[in-house]
Amino acid sequence: MKYLILSLLFSISVGAAPQAHDTQKTQTIMTNMDIITALKLNPTVIDKEIGVGIVNVSNEQIEEIHELSHAAKRCAGYQTLEDGIAINQHDSILSDLKNIVNRHKKAENLSILGKPLTYNSRIDEAVSMIDAENIRSWVEWLSSYNDRYHAGKTPNAHVEEMETRLKAMIAASSIEARVERITHKRTQQNSLKVIIPGTERPEEIVVLGGHFDSINRFYILPSPGADDNASGTSSLVEALRVLLTQGQQPKRTIEFMWYAAEEVGLWGSSDIANSYKQTNKDVIAVLQLDMTLYPGDGERKFGNTSDFTSPWLRQIISDLNSLYVNGVELESACGYGCSDHASWYRQGYPAAFPMESTFNGSNKKIHTTDDIISSSSSFDHAAMFGELAVAFAIELGDNDLRQPY
Ligand code: BES
Ligand code: ZN
Repeated sequence: MKYLILSLLFSISVGAAPQAHDTQKTQTIMTNMDIITALKLNPTVIDKEIGVGIVNVSNEQIEEIHELSHAAKRCAGYQTLEDGIAINQHDSILSDLKNIVNRHKKAENLSILGKPLTYNSRIDEAVSMIDAENIRSWVEWLSSYNDRYHAGKTPNAHVEEMETRLKAMIAASSIEARVERITHKRTQQNSLKVIIPGTERPEEIVVLGGHFDSINRFYILPSPGADDNASGTSSLVEALRVLLTQGQQPKRTIEFMWYAAEEVGLWGSSDIANSYKQTNKDVIAVLQLDMTLYPGDGERKFGNTSDFTSPWLRQIISDLNSLYVNGVELESACGYGCSDHASWYRQGYPAAFPMESTFNGSNKKIHTTDDIISSSSSFDHAAMFGELAVAFAIELGDNDLRQPY
C-alpha cells in the first residue's frame, strides 16, 4: 500500500499516471501459494505440491504483491499468463508445470546429466576476445535513456537504435545473420532477435536472451536500469560481436533475443516461448542473462540459478565455467519465476540463468533511479557473463548434445 500511495502522490504531482498503472485493469497471473495466502487472493486453481496457483488480479493487487515481495526481500514473484486463456485451461497449465518440475527433479536425483564436455581451443579463443570496455560503452548508451519502460513515452527508442547497431555489426561480418523485430499484442514495445542460421541442423535452435526494458517502482520516475538489464543485454551483444568476428557459421541455428516488457510479467518472452512451442520449434537450450554488473558476492562469482532451470543445462554452465571462464560458481534460487528463463521453462524448454551473485547478494537498487553505473559496478564482472555466453553459443551451436531426459 505504501508504494501505491507514494506512486499515486507522484502521479498527482507530476501528471497523468501511465496506462499500465490503470487500477481497473486485471490480468491473470501464476504466483506462489505464500503470496495467495498472505493477500487472501481467490485463485481459480492451486497445486499444493509445487506451491503455485493461478489467480485473476487487479493492478491494485499487483501493487500489493510487489509490496509484500519487497518486504520479503525479493521482487515481484508472479508471472502474467498469455492473453485469452480460458479458466478451464488453468488446471492443465498447472499440471503441465508440475510435470516439467517433476521431470527435472527426477533427472537431478538420478544424475542422468549426460557426458562431460571436452576442451575446444576455439572456445578458449572466443572467451579471450570478450572485452569489458565494449560492454561498458553499451551499458552507458542503454542507461542514458530516461527509461526503457514498455508503457513509457518512447517504448521503442532504444529498440530502434539497437536494431540499427546490430545491423551494422552483421553487415561488417562474414557470417550470414539477420535481425528481426517482434511485435506483441499486449504492449507497444517490440522485442529484437538476431538469427544466425545453422549449416547442418538449422531446425535445432540455441537461444541466448535477456530483457532490455526497464522500470521504476514509482513508474513515472526515470529508470536507467543499468544493472537491470542494460548489463545482461550488453554482455549478450559482446558475445554476439565475438561470434561475428570469429566468422564461423554454427551447425545449429543460434538466436539472440532481447525481450520487451519483462518487468511487468515476462510479457515479451512468454509470447515468444509460447509461439515457439505452438509451432513445435526444436529449442535445444536457452541461456538467460539478467543482471551481470554488480558483484554482490565478489568479483567473478556468479549464481547458477537452480529454480525454473534445467539441471542438465546448469551442469553445462558449470562445465563451461571450469573449462574456460574460471569464475566461482554459487548456488542460487529466486524462489519464483523471476526472469525470462521462466517463460521458456514453462513451455518445457531447457533453460539456464547464471546471474551476478546469489539472489540474496544481488543489487538492491534495481527498479529505482539509482540503478546506474557507479563505483560498485564492475565491467570485468559483466564480461564473465559474456564469456559464459560465447562459450555456451559455440559449444551448443556446434555439438549434438541434447537434454537426455
Ligand atoms: N532482474 C529482475 C529479476 C531478479 C531480481 C533476478 C533480483 C535476480 C535478482 C527482473 O527484471 C525482475 O524485476 N523480475 C520481476 C518479476 C517479473 C515476473 C515481473 C521481479 O523480480 O519483480
Ligand atoms: Zn527488473
